[in-house]
This record gives sequence, C-alpha cells and structure tokens, in this order.
Amino acid sequence: GRPRDLAGRKVVVSAGGTREAIDPVRFIGNRSSGLQGYALARTAAARGAEVTLVAANVTLPDPAGAAIVRVESTAELREAVLSASADADVVVMAAAVADFRPESRHDAKIKKTDGEPEAIRLVKNPDILAELGERRRAARTALTDGDREAGPGAVPPRVIVGFAAETHDVLANGQAKLARKGCDLLVVNQVGEGLAFGTAGNAATVLVAGGEAVEVPFGPKEDLADVVWDLVAARLP
Ligand code: C5P
Repeated sequence: GRPRDLAGRKVVVSAGGTREAIDPVRFIGNRSSGLQGYALARTAAARGAEVTLVAANVTLPDPAGAAIVRVESTAELREAVLSASADADVVVMAAAVADFRPESRHDAKIKKTDGEPEAIRLVKNPDILAELGERRRAARTALTDGDREAGPGAVPPRVIVGFAAETHDVLANGQAKLARKGCDLLVVNQVGEGLAFGTAGNAATVLVAGGEAVEVPFGPKEDLADVVWDLVAARLP
C-alpha cells in the first residue's frame, strides 16, 4: 500500500490540455489526454491528500477521491488554478496549456463562402506556472523577519511542480526553466518516438531546485506520480 504522507494536505493538480476558441465550433488545441494529471490526482488522494483536479477537456473517468473543476480555455484554467491555490500546500501543473490564443473569437461560424480565408492572429497566453511562482516570491518578500524564520514553506503553495517536454539538453534546459518559472520541481518528459501523449507510460527526469535530478525509467504514469509525491512529501514542512 501507499504511505498516507499527504494526509491533511491540500493539493491542486491541473490536467489535460486547454482549447482556445476560433469560432463557436472550432478551436486550437493539443493532444494531451490528461492521463498523467489524473494519475497524479488519484495517487495523491490515495496518499491522503485533499485533491482539487482542474481538468481541461479530459474524457477519462473521474478519479476517486478528487473534487473536479472542469475548464476549457487557458483563461478558465488560470482562474480555477489560482483560486484553488490560494490556500494549497502543493500545486502540480500537469496540464498542457496553449501558449497562444486567437486575438478575437468570431461570434458566428466562419463560412468557407466568405471568400479567401482570413489569417488568425494569435496573442500570447499568460504563463500560469510562472505566475504562481512569481506570486509566491512576492509574498515571501513581503514577510516580516519573524515570519521568514518559519522558512520557505511559510507561504502557500509550499511546493510548486511544473512539467516540461524537452527533446535535447534536458538537464540544462530543464534547470533553466525551473529557475525561470520559480518552481520547486520540474518533471521533464522525454518526448518523441510515441512517448508521453496518450500512452499509458512515461519516462522522465525530475529536476529538484538546488540540483538533484531523479531519473524515472519508462513505466506506468502512476509510478512517475508516486516519485513526484515522494519528492513533494520530503519538501513539505
Ligand atoms: O514553458 P513550457 O510550456 O515548457 O512550460 C510547461 C509548464 O508550464 C507546464 O507545467 C505547464 O502546465 C505550465 N504552463 C503554464 N502556462 C502556460 C504554459 C505552460 O502554466 N501558458
């Protein structure tokens, strides 16, 4: 059985992939299945955590023991994650968030009889993971000296976990991303050759802020989830 080392801890997991509307029937999306995020939510609940699962366009059965908030767009995911994170111990951003969205959404379906196709102008989406890290950094800076003695775990979310898909220079790119986003752990997926998206298994390197790198060999997504929770539990005050 699993340890109950997350008992009494509030955990937020995002899963799936966001969609950005072009018109009422079309969207820009990605192939994320939500399997890894759901495995994280299920295993966290099994280890005793109170889990909020923010699911973006996932068609998997509800995991036992998690409260589910369903979202579609990045703006909705951001709202749901930030509001659930205010008093969370841990946030894991496993969702594939659309980096860009159409600048405006057509109110009516775009018709092919409208003539030459129009270009879709894209604008950047907010980086939710970086925003979580930045908010926490600002809150830590605002602490009084007395509060600061309580340690880095004094400000929620106490542990922030990001995911990244890197194809080369995994360690260098991963450590740079970890620092840039202000997270504590970064799970770097090895992508390509049929790995990761939509498959039952995953291989990854988990980078820990401050240096350590934990290799997780190819295996079930639940195994990777348990390695993540082991590292998270060790960092909770
Ligand atoms: O920068 P990159 O997309 O590689 O970072 C991936 C990580 O950042 C994932 O944890 C993802 O959930 C998160 N992310 C985010 N908001 C974005 C883009 C990515 O929170 N706009």
